Parts: sequence; structure tokens; C-alpha cells
Amino acid sequence: MNRRYFLKTGAVAAAVLAGIPILTTGCRTNLRTRLMEKQPSPEIPGLSPEGHRILHYASLAPSGHNSQPWFVRINAPEDWTIGLDTDRRLPVVDKNNTEALLSIGAFLENMVQAAAAHGYRVHTTIIAKDRFDPDFNPDLVSIRLEKTHPENMDLRRLTSRRTVKTHLSDRQLTPKDVNAFSHLADGHLFYFAKGTTHADHMTEQAVANYISQMKNRKAVREMAKWTRLKDSTIKEHRDGLTPAGMEIQGLAGWYVRHVMNPADVTRQTFIDKGIEKTRYQAKEGAGWLVITGDGNTVADLIASGRRFQRMALEAKNKMIAIHPMSQTLEETRGQKHITENHSPGTIPHFMLRVGYLDKYPDPVSIRRPVTWFVRI
Ligand SMILES: Cc1cc2nc3c(=O)[nH]c(=O)nc-3n(C[C@H](O)[C@H](O)[C@H](O)COP(=O)(O)O)c2cc1C
Repeated sequence: MNRRYFLKTGAVAAAVLAGIPILTTGCRTNLRTRLMEKQPSPEIPGLSPEGHRILHYASLAPSGHNSQPWFVRINAPEDWTIGLDTDRRLPVVDKNNTEALLSIGAFLENMVQAAAAHGYRVHTTIIAKDRFDPDFNPDLVSIRLEKTHPENMDLRRLTSRRTVKTHLSDRQLTPKDVNAFSHLADGHLFYFAKGTTHADHMTEQAVANYISQMKNRKAVREMAKWTRLKDSTIKEHRDGLTPAGMEIQGLAGWYVRHVMNPADVTRQTFIDKGIEKTRYQAKEGAGWLVITGDGNTVADLIASGRRFQRMALEAKNKMIAIHPMSQTLEETRGQKHITENHSPGTIPHFMLRVGYLDKYPDPVSIRRPVTWFVRI
């Protein structure tokens, strides 16, 4: 540690310990709003302004580590291909591309809903064959847009959705809300309410598998690679895990943004804080929702991503937080545990912590502009 770093760290740490109020986020406007609302939209050859808007809405989809693993090739104005950007995979925690394909499913669902609002029906054909194939073809879905009447859809559902990780109430989800989610997930949904043996096991597994992941240096380094601490880095990359997205707020948020370096994310102090936070979060809320799939093909995973996203888009209206905690399904032991103990004979694709909220916060996670993920 050099002297300057020590002094900076020492001064702030001392202030934190002494409880000295440091000017933090009080007057800070949301960086996502600042960056994304002023987004210029340069023309993309072959893409209409409507097509551009549809792709912007699609890009608001959630993704593991916010890696935004999609690209879109414009073959003709109404003929596109959605693909997996292999540089945006998470080869350690997601070696089989499960989460990448679930995320691309969410991207496709946003695209279909935005297209409907702009007067287009989307015809999709899955073109990828096998995600385990070493020569995996990154072209996944062929898209054809057909002009039709605009549907009356509220696209604010897409712009205001976010992952919410704290302040989840432990009040059980009502049967009405579970049924509505189940309908949106085509019936591929299980709810394990807080206080049941099943929910307790899932909580234990979420913590245990997070801890075992944090003992894996490769997984820690992968997380660090996608962590963006400083505003300048966030502006440069417009992806990844930001302090606001990780819900590191107030003074701790200030400290992380201004004092820490990316390498500090791999240090034991940060890892221990993450474990402490995961323990706390896993216990909060009304239990767990599990979305299951029909199989593990590209088409199955994209279908599950779409089901998840339909639920996530409805959750804000219901003031329900949905927090994917994927570590259990990423680890072989965790996945075996869930499959054997909770939903035998089914294939779990998402483990989601849920709970009612008093206040649904504004989205904070950043996205790349359309021009960055479109290929011509
Ligand atoms: C397939 C998938 C897996 C995810 N897994 C996790 C997870 O294990 N832990 C977590 O905190 N968030 C997880 N998320 C949420 C993402 O981190 C989040 O969507 C992303 O950072 C963008 O933030 P936003 O959803 O608020 O727009 C996951 C999201 C998706 C789509």
C-alpha cells in the first residue's frame, strides 16, 4: 500500500469509525438517469428510429453480473439476429452459458413487448443447436418483424424494473400474486414460503454456495472483472456490477466509489463483507420462487428467461422485489441439492428471493447504448 493510498484510506476509515458525516450521496443524482436519458442516438445504417428504440428497451433486460451478453446483427431493417457475445460470458460461474441464455431470453421478452407497443409482431426462430458444442454458434435467434397495429402497452414497466435486494418484507405472498406470477411463467413456478423447511433449506444453500464460490479465486477474479467502482469506469464500460447496483449505499458507497481499487474487490475484507451481506439478504423476504424449465436446450433456457422477465416486469405493480440468487444453481452440489430435495423431476433455472416492498426504488444499473451491441 503506498503512502497516499494509506492516508486516503486511513482518513476515511477513521471518519467512518468516528461517525463523522462525510458529504455523500445526498445531492447525487442517479448516474443511470444522467447517462442514459441524455443518450444521443446516432443513426445505425439499416435500422429505423423505431428499431433503435425497440433495441434500447430490449437492452434494459437484467443479466448475470450485468454483463449484457447479447449482440444484434441487422441483416435488413426487419430481419435481425440475436447472438451471444462470447466476450461477455462468465466462463467460471456460468461455464455452460445457462445464465447468459436466460439473460438473452429476458432481452428477447423486452424486445417483443417493446415491438408490440411500436406496432410490430416479432417472429422468432431459434437457430442455435447445442450450447455444449465446442464450436458453439453464437447466433441464437432469428428475428423477423412484421408491421401490425400498435398495442396499448405501458413501456414504463420496462424502464422502471430493477433487481431489488434489500428491505423485503417477510409477509407471505398472497395466493392471488403467486397465481398471477405462475400464469406469466406458463405454470413453471414453485413458491416456497418463508418458515417452511423448503425455504429454510434454500436460504442455507444460498449462503453455503456463496461462501464456497468466494473460496474459488477464479470466481472472485471473475466477479472483480465485472465490478465497476468509480463513476469514470462506469461511464467507460456501461455494464457490470456498480456500487449502486450492489446496494452499497451512504458512506460505504462513497468509500467504495472513491477509495477502493478494482483489486480490492478480491481482498478478504471485501469478500467477508459480501458474505455478511448475503447472509443478511438470504434471510430477508417472503421465501423463494423457483422457475423450472422443460429441459436445458438453448430454446428451453431462452423460454425460461422470457418467463422470468414477464414476472419481473409485473413485480413492480405488485410492489414485489425479485432477487435472483444464482449461486446455488451455479455450483454442482447446490444444484443437486435443489433438484433432489425441492422439486424432484423438474429442472430449476432460476432461484429468486421475493418479498413485498414499501417503496420500489428507481433503477440504478447502467446499460450500453444500442450502437455498442449492434453489428451491421
Ligand atoms: C440469469 C440472471 C442471474 C442473476 N444472478 C444474480 C445473482 O446471483 N445475484 C444477484 O445479486 N443478482 C443476480 N442477477 C441480477 C443482476 O445482477 C441484475 O439484473 C443486473 O445487475 C442488472 O441490474 P437490474 O436488474 O437492476 O437492471 C441475475 C440476473 C439474471 C438475469
